[in-house]
Amino acid sequence: MQPRWTVESESGCTVRFADGVSALDLNSGLWNVPLGYRNARVGEAVMAAMTVGSYGGVFRRSSVAAEEVAERLVHLWPRGTYGKVLFATSGSAANDAVIKLSRLHRRRLGRSDRPVVVSFEGSYHGQTLGAMGLSGEDLLQGEMLTAPHEFVKVPVDDSDRVRQILDSHGTRISAVFIEPLQGTGTRPMDDAVLQEIFEARRRHGFLVIADEVATGFGRTGVMFRSARWRESADLVVLSKALTNGTQAASAILVGSEVADVFAAQGAIFPHGETQAGSLWACAAMNAVLDEFEERFGMVTADAQLPETRSMEQFLDKVSAPSMGLQVRGEGMFYTITGTEDFDGLAVGERLRSAGLVVHAGLHSIQLAPPFVLSHQQWADAAETLKEELHRVCADG
Ligand SMILES: Cc1ncc(COP(=O)(O)O)c(C=O)c1O
Repeated sequence: MQPRWTVESESGCTVRFADGVSALDLNSGLWNVPLGYRNARVGEAVMAAMTVGSYGGVFRRSSVAAEEVAERLVHLWPRGTYGKVLFATSGSAANDAVIKLSRLHRRRLGRSDRPVVVSFEGSYHGQTLGAMGLSGEDLLQGEMLTAPHEFVKVPVDDSDRVRQILDSHGTRISAVFIEPLQGTGTRPMDDAVLQEIFEARRRHGFLVIADEVATGFGRTGVMFRSARWRESADLVVLSKALTNGTQAASAILVGSEVADVFAAQGAIFPHGETQAGSLWACAAMNAVLDEFEERFGMVTADAQLPETRSMEQFLDKVSAPSMGLQVRGEGMFYTITGTEDFDGLAVGERLRSAGLVVHAGLHSIQLAPPFVLSHQQWADAAETLKEELHRVCADG
């Protein structure tokens, strides 16, 4: 790796690279550090957990810390929505676990034909085999998946087509995976498409999965974006900000009705990852929940993040549309896209040298800033970004 992208240290909202450049990280790590690097409360909670034990784990047992987190996560939602929490070690692993769970759920309901899972064109759900199969983005699935027919894709913006595809597979569908806002391109979910999915769920009995790995914990301006949907998802997948990026950890909220189907038959869900739900991970999760509660007053799943106002003002100051650039996104998650000549990777390099880290795409840059930027940091970042974008657009 080039020293200019080799991280030497991190603090607050700033990353220092091995070539001596310090830059404000407007990508919050990989969208997973909304509370800034070396967050004191998270750090202290993890250190304290080290004095209680050194593993924890939730395979065939539980821990006080894991039970506390599970209860707190469930209580953010209206009573009875979610009944159980499963822990895993990444967004990808959690999505694979959910594919398995949705297939077993179908079995428990007495359906034994070959199941399919449905997801969206352009989506991203992770790197393990199942999660890669779900992903609509090109990850060379054609060269690696042995059962691509088990993964069906639907378009993001054509509700009639979505209905036709869902009806053509009917009760063979075990689950439909939805990113409430597609991370790639920050495209919000279309309401009409969402409505078709809920109606098809009533006809065919599949599970609706909210993959909130990237969107959870305020990234779209709402604590959990799926909490604002007209109907609840059956399962919600969380990771990234869940530990403010400090641990390889994820959590799956399981709808009470789904949990009841298993419980009624005395059936278990066999998924155990050695490090899932470790003491340190749970300590970090508890501290993150404390931070969202105390700093931002976010105590329900549909709570609004106050910081979105700063983001709107920031985007106004950058005034990308006046430079012919398209801005799309929600809350604290935006993509600025240019024409074919807009070289996102080169812009990313220029911005880094000017003291800003963004997530660079081929013809776009993405912004997912931390929620704890100071007034001055917002102002400086807006000025630098505007200046650099102006220069690039004038040069182009
Ligand atoms: C929506 C979504 N799902 C799943 C994943 C995979 O998570 P992980 O990288 O922790 O495996 C990501 C990662 O970016 C994601 O954005």
